[in-house]
Amino acid sequence: MSKRLLTFVHISDTHIHLDPDYVSEHINFSSRIPVQKLIEAVNALPMAIDFVMHTGDVAHYPETAEHYHVAREILQQIRYPVYYCPGNHDFVPQFQEHFLGKSSDEIRIRYDTEFECNGVQIVMMDSHIPPDIEGHSGYLMAQQLDWLDEICRADDNRPLVVGIHHHPLLLEAPWLDRISLKNGIALHNTLLKAKHRLRGVFYGHIHENVITVREGISYYSAVSGWFQTQTWYAAEEPAAGVMQGPGFNLVTLTETDTFVRPVRIPSA
Ligand SMILES: [Fe+2]
Ligand SMILES: [Fe+2]
Repeated sequence: MSKRLLTFVHISDTHIHLDPDYVSEHINFSSRIPVQKLIEAVNALPMAIDFVMHTGDVAHYPETAEHYHVAREILQQIRYPVYYCPGNHDFVPQFQEHFLGKSSDEIRIRYDTEFECNGVQIVMMDSHIPPDIEGHSGYLMAQQLDWLDEICRADDNRPLVVGIHHHPLLLEAPWLDRISLKNGIALHNTLLKAKHRLRGVFYGHIHENVITVREGISYYSAVSGWFQTQTWYAAEEPAAGVMQGPGFNLVTLTETDTFVRPVRIPSA
């Protein structure tokens, strides 16, 4: 049996709103109950996990500090350390100040993070474009790619895990591809330099489960903490009548393998 290195839970797109009854034009229920069910399911897992990775859209257009205070109060119920990258619905300075509790001199234009857990290197990238500028797609700045390039070129044998909000590769469905990471190919080409140790790229944003494998790199999305979609290959729009209920990916790294188990939680 291959030795276990790390177990983490990948969650995404909790879209917490100040108003507990907030609904959008896309869905007729609020995020509050599904997110609560998601947290309870993670806390009730029958094994200890090392951390939770949240790949963004933490809050839903958080216009005031209170939005992030409420999001913090809710997500603090998770009994494991949680690492975040922001999504297109997050306001990144406010996310750092009011959600993560950073002081004003710690706030960065881009909130990228790198840390190690049990000998595994984890990198999380901030791909947001402010929503008032460019819609829902994402972008990585040249400096961010340079930073990642250095990590990927390094003489380093630690397994590597990457988290990001947007889908780096096109999913061959027009409505999703309009909101992808605009320079995802640049990200993929950078990651190829660390292919020998890269265990997976984990992302959110699309509110559905897709696995893409390209040139030996695996990209896994997580469903949302709020509502779900389902998009078939080449479909012009999402399918109707999709099963709701939040979910997460349970990810286990061993010395030889990467296991990704999508878990769904009934909505009723
Ligand atoms: Fe989202
Ligand atoms: Fe998003």
